[in-house]
Amino acid sequence: ESSETTQLKQLYADATELFHHILINTAMGEEALQYLHKRGLSDDMITEFKLGFAPQKELLLPFFQEKKVKQELLRKSGLFSETATGDLRGRFRGRVLFPIRDMQGKTVAFSGRLLAQNQKQPKYLNSPETAIFNKRKVLFNFDKAKTEIRQKQFVILFEGFMDVLAAYRAGIKNGVASMGTSLTNEQIYLLERTTSKMYLCYDGDSPGQTATARALSLLEPLTKMTLGVIRMPEALDPDEYVRKYGEAAFKELAQNTHETGLAFYLHYYEQGRNLANEDDQLAYIADVLKQLAGVTSPIERDLYLNQLAKRFGVDKDSLAAQLNDFMRKSG
Ligand code: GTP
Ligand code: MN
Ligand code: MN
Ligand code: MN
Ligand code: MN
Repeated sequence: ESSETTQLKQLYADATELFHHILINTAMGEEALQYLHKRGLSDDMITEFKLGFAPQKELLLPFFQEKKVKQELLRKSGLFSETATGDLRGRFRGRVLFPIRDMQGKTVAFSGRLLAQNQKQPKYLNSPETAIFNKRKVLFNFDKAKTEIRQKQFVILFEGFMDVLAAYRAGIKNGVASMGTSLTNEQIYLLERTTSKMYLCYDGDSPGQTATARALSLLEPLTKMTLGVIRMPEALDPDEYVRKYGEAAFKELAQNTHETGLAFYLHYYEQGRNLANEDDQLAYIADVLKQLAGVTSPIERDLYLNQLAKRFGVDKDSLAAQLNDFMRKSG
């Protein structure tokens, strides 16, 4: 490990401690601490994940200057942005900070959330890439989750950091999240070395469901892992679900209510359709058959053909003929 890498990690370790201290011990952090409590996070959780608060006031720069840290290193750290006049200024201001940890549990980046959403700034702001942070390789919470993933023999992929934390406090500790992007080959490789099963537990709202459909079709050809879905009801995200129905209800759902990718698509294609309408029925059946055309197991295809035939009162042979047509077209 180069000395620059070591030095950068030390900066992030110090920054993590400082921001955590601000959050839990100072008046500057009071509002942020209340915000996190209101969102259901206990002091134990806040300490376990070393959550922090970066106030508006510039603290980090004088803190590091006091320690005689070189300006050049600060510039490379990603913890600051540069003003037009070349001065450094803390990148995170007025944000709750989620430390992003590497496999060894060391902070290598932050994601900062505004206390109240506004039009001018993004809700979440992430550290830029640095010598110690390659966002293609990092999965939020993988260091803590790894042992649990091995034991439970599956991993749960969430959209957001708050969802991972909500699951964690509900006792579901095999959850990870990417940095707001779809999984990279590097992240898939990490997970594949740990487990053979992955469940997507994205937001129940319409963008979350669309993202699930997209992720399933992107991941299917890229991974050997079996893919499934834990579907959130009522357009809730996992964090909102835990707050509305409680930790026990979420735990039950996350442990026992898994759908296959195909079962997910059966629900997904119902969205925006009125299946009392024959037009909508035909369009729905066509979408499902196109999806079925990609299923390799003949038994699985047969199972769903039977379901469709029964549900819509159509002849199974016609469905099978249409399916064969789609299978020929998709090669
Ligand atoms: P909360 O509002 O705090 O509950 O966050 P959330 O996780 O529910 O956010 P949302 O469902 O809107 O987005 C899911 C994930 O996308 C977040 O956890 C972030 O990783 C990412 N994301 C959301 N908004 C932004 C943004 O403005 N900028 C960036 N870079 N990422 C974002
Ligand atoms: Mn969302
Ligand atoms: Mn969400
Ligand atoms: Mn949320
Ligand atoms: Mn199961």
